[in-house]
Amino acid sequence: MVSKKIPSSPIRILRHNELPLLRDHLLRLDPQSRRDRFHGMVNDAFIANYIARCFGPKTITIAYVESDEVHGVAELHEPMSDGELPELAFSVEANFRRRGVGSVLFKTLLDEARRAGYRRLRVTTGAHNDAMRALAHKFGAHLVFDHGELAGTIDLTAPSIAEKPARNLAEAVLAFNRAYWNGVIKMGDAMWAARDQRVREDAAIK
Ligand SMILES: CC(C)(COP(=O)(O)OP(=O)(O)OC[C@H]1O[C@@H](n2cnc3c(N)ncnc32)[C@H](O)[C@@H]1OP(=O)(O)O)[C@@H](O)C(=O)NCCC(=O)NCCS
Repeated sequence: MVSKKIPSSPIRILRHNELPLLRDHLLRLDPQSRRDRFHGMVNDAFIANYIARCFGPKTITIAYVESDEVHGVAELHEPMSDGELPELAFSVEANFRRRGVGSVLFKTLLDEARRAGYRRLRVTTGAHNDAMRALAHKFGAHLVFDHGELAGTIDLTAPSIAEKPARNLAEAVLAFNRAYWNGVIKMGDAMWAARDQRVREDAAIK
């Protein structure tokens, strides 16, 4: 008997043994996205070194996984020195954008950060990064110009973040999940239909 395997959730914490999936995702980013993500041009060797930092004891890395590949990531990094805030970073591959992946990653990361006891987080991005500005704005971070880049903070204890947008965000997550699972179900139906067809053809030959 063939068992139908239930796919795991597409949004989940990335484990250390999945480091190659993160590396491949970051290497797949097109040059502009790579510049936006790392606030400047970085080469492949930089990325190969960088990914180890995404699995430190106080780092949280959430991934969007589809077909066993990571196509989007939200990271929370501890500050390098006292007095600084933990920093967030996001990347979604170009052909997965504007479908709510960034938003669901953001929401999941904030939930995890709150659970881990963080109270305030920092977001920075390039001065012309409208996408990141819009994404951060959805979660209460109003990015303003600071030393040539856009920067803002997220107060995880503020009711406006903890409560008010929850309904809209929950709806966004539900809509995203609905769209995702409809796709998976359609794919599953097509696979089962193809399999049934093959079984019928085999039976006809015998
Ligand atoms: C920023 C980024 C993560 C957004 O990912 P995404 O999956 O497209 O995000 P979403 O689909 O959830 O969109 C979030 C919001 O931003 C808005 N948005 C997305 N792209 C936009 C753009 N280019 N211009 C203006 N608004 C944009 C969406 O409309 C959405 O708002 P809405 O829900 O009110 O409609 C993605 O563009 C990216 O990876 N860019 C390259 C890396 C980068 O810039 N990282 C940030 C620095 S760390």
